[in-house]
Amino acid sequence: MKLRLAQWAPVLAAVNAAAQGSTGPYIPGGPSFKDFLRFSCSELNIQRIDPLVTPGLAPSPHLHQIVGGNALAPRMDPALNISAEATCTTCTFTEDFSNYWTAVLFFRHRNGSFHRVPLMENLGLEGQRGGMTVYYTAPYDKKTKVIAFKPGFRMLIGDPMYREPSPDPNEFKSIAFRCFTTPWGPAPANSEIGGSWDTRTFPETPCPYGLRVNNFFPTCWDGVNVDSPDHKSHVAYPTTGSFETEGACPSTHPVRLPQILYETIWNTSAFNDLSMWPTDGTQPFVFSTGDETGYGWHGDYLFGWQGDALQRAMDKYCGVDCPELKKQTIAEANKCTKAAVVNEPIDGWLGSLPGNPVLSR
Ligand SMILES: *[C@@H]1O[C@H](CO)[C@@H](O)[C@H](O)[C@H]1NC(C)=O
Ligand SMILES: *[C@@H]1O[C@H](CO)[C@@H](O)[C@H](O)[C@H]1NC(C)=O
Ligand SMILES: *[C@@H]1O[C@H](CO)[C@@H](O)[C@H](O)[C@H]1NC(C)=O
Repeated sequence: MKLRLAQWAPVLAAVNAAAQGSTGPYIPGGPSFKDFLRFSCSELNIQRIDPLVTPGLAPSPHLHQIVGGNALAPRMDPALNISAEATCTTCTFTEDFSNYWTAVLFFRHRNGSFHRVPLMENLGLEGQRGGMTVYYTAPYDKKTKVIAFKPGFRMLIGDPMYREPSPDPNEFKSIAFRCFTTPWGPAPANSEIGGSWDTRTFPETPCPYGLRVNNFFPTCWDGVNVDSPDHKSHVAYPTTGSFETEGACPSTHPVRLPQILYETIWNTSAFNDLSMWPTDGTQPFVFSTGDETGYGWHGDYLFGWQGDALQRAMDKYCGVDCPELKKQTIAEANKCTKAAVVNEPIDGWLGSLPGNPVLSR
């Protein structure tokens, strides 16, 4: 399936340049960073809970890697005052008590054992302990306003059960694996996300310098509901243009939201040895959902910014250095933790994936 991505290329290239740094010298706070809030969120914990899809269930069906505020719990009802509950966050901006989570990547050895693939720090965010990079973007024209998420807001992108492209092409576009075979390369800095350098499925060959994947969330809201039964239908992508910040929102979802992007990077370097790869030529990566394709990549968002902090940042079209927001160092962010409520082996060589999901491709 070939998607027309050309129309999104400029915006994607901007995000990508900042996100990746690639072959050129990386200048912290340099021009490519000025247009979006980009920050690190270290690991909070990795456990089988999912406050959005299976609230209260511990353990939930599959393992998640979770970052953000320490109000995290298996159940977080929309009425919960997260900023009253939380005392710290693993993210850079200390008023952001949101929780962000995705599936976990495992490597399957040809002998049948599984090993969790560790996460790695992003360019310019050195020192981050696991976790992900989070972006919030307001339109680049710096004229169009976005409305920050309301308390209780949450949403989901992707579906852990997908083993083929999502029926929603916008959602599908979000899944773009980039296999780094040189430091942050060889894809040039401005190569578009989801373009010829990326794959929609797990890489078929080793990625000595890491493997990156994205989640681009929808940017249009129905203006009423902070959630919906499928956790998706209260939000939508623009009718035209990109899943970024261009294009009009559909009349059903007229309220323009900040663009949220997650960037997850795994350090695959311990799994390059082809003598560990399957003998039948298949690739060895599998998500904690049992997905051996990559199409089941999904991301969950649970809004938890304090007061109007996010709105203020978006109104100023804040970049990485956002005077509107209170900040902590990555070392301070790393100190925020929350003990897992579900404790089971997730590291070392394992005989099965946590929760033992059915493996399928
Ligand atoms: C949530 O808690 C914060 C901090 O205690 C407080 O300032 C805020 O007013 C509360 N919000 C609501 C909606 O009760
Ligand atoms: C598979 O290989 C790994 C790495 O050598 C080893 O630690 C693990 O015990 C092996 N698993 C089985 C089932 O032999
Ligand atoms: C990646 O993992 C290897 C061990 O396999 C380690 O030596 C290296 O420092 C890690 N790189 C980063 C950027 O975390």
